Amino acid sequence: MVKVAVLAAGGIGQPLSLLLKSHPQVTELSLYDIVNSPGVAADLSHICTKAKVTGYKGQENLDAALAGCEIVVIPAGIPRKPGMTRDDLFNINAGIVKGLAEAIAKNCPKAFTCIISNPVNSTVPICAEVFKKAGTYDPKRLFGVTLLDIVRSSTFVSQCKGTNPQETKVTVIGGHSGVTIVPLLSQVKGLTFTQEEVEALTHRIQFGGDEVVKAKDGAGSATLSMAYAAARFVDSLIEGAFLKKQVVECAYVESPLAVDDGCAFFASAIELGPSGAEKILPIGPLSDYEQGLYKACVEQLKVNIAKGVNFVNQA
Ligand code: NAD
Ligand code: LMR
Repeated sequence: MVKVAVLAAGGIGQPLSLLLKSHPQVTELSLYDIVNSPGVAADLSHICTKAKVTGYKGQENLDAALAGCEIVVIPAGIPRKPGMTRDDLFNINAGIVKGLAEAIAKNCPKAFTCIISNPVNSTVPICAEVFKKAGTYDPKRLFGVTLLDIVRSSTFVSQCKGTNPQETKVTVIGGHSGVTIVPLLSQVKGLTFTQEEVEALTHRIQFGGDEVVKAKDGAGSATLSMAYAAARFVDSLIEGAFLKKQVVECAYVESPLAVDDGCAFFASAIELGPSGAEKILPIGPLSDYEQGLYKACVEQLKVNIAKGVNFVNQA
């Protein structure tokens, strides 16, 4: 029913493709990279699920990889090493995402585009600017995938409180890096936290990515948990956009929520539907502590957004 492209067959792209190959609604999976993708696609193609997998290698095959795709997921680009911030990836990944966005605008302008490549705070605005230039931009169809922050929140909160992580729902707003990640623990249904717990959990959720980067010790950043989170996001998108079910997930989208504070893009809970980001849900009441987190978030996020916008417009 749905044709999905995964643009990069690296640390995230491979397990993500494995999960999507098993998705009952994915009938075609297009796997693109500048290296390795035909081998990965051949391997996946032996799995006895209905999705037809094709590998495309090299820039000259990018148009073919994207033809007819309804969902495009982008995990292309370099990951962090210990000591780096996500913004340190900008110089390389901005150009990679820009090039891929240009190809999406040309080959599948109506596709739902889901960006994983860091720094997400800037790569999503880059993609939006490219689509605007091409005349194909629909803000409801462009998402920064921040779901790993929600997945981590469910895990860390459930470890703290002894709850089932699958039933422990935490809304995370803002962006996807350090202090721009704002978990709303005061809104978690049925749980209360001491201030000490709030501060420890908030720090762990904001810097969960660094935990993995440190543990991998130079071999990259989160790949398996990210693939899980991205597959869940694609599944929710399919449920909302193609199966017309009511689904709420958090994602980083063009949003009115923090525009007054200089941020045209902001992550929050959104309702997914046939047009994509059907409805951006309100932030809701914040505790005093969360109001402080919000202020720190928007100060950094607006700089990250402007950097992405300027990258495209000054080029
Ligand atoms: P990786 O190095 O394992 O794989 C990246 C792949 O991108 C490689 O296979 C490489 O060949 C490919 N690539 C490079 N240029 C390309 C291009 N122009 N077109 C297509 N493919 C290209 O890295 P990874 O661990 O998979 O991480 C990928 C990105 O995802 C990084 O930027 C990382 O920071 C980011 N990430 C984001 C989140 C999130 O929550 N949004 C989580 C984890 C990682
Ligand atoms: C994450 O949150 O794990 C990713 O953004 C990768 C990283 O650089 O930490």
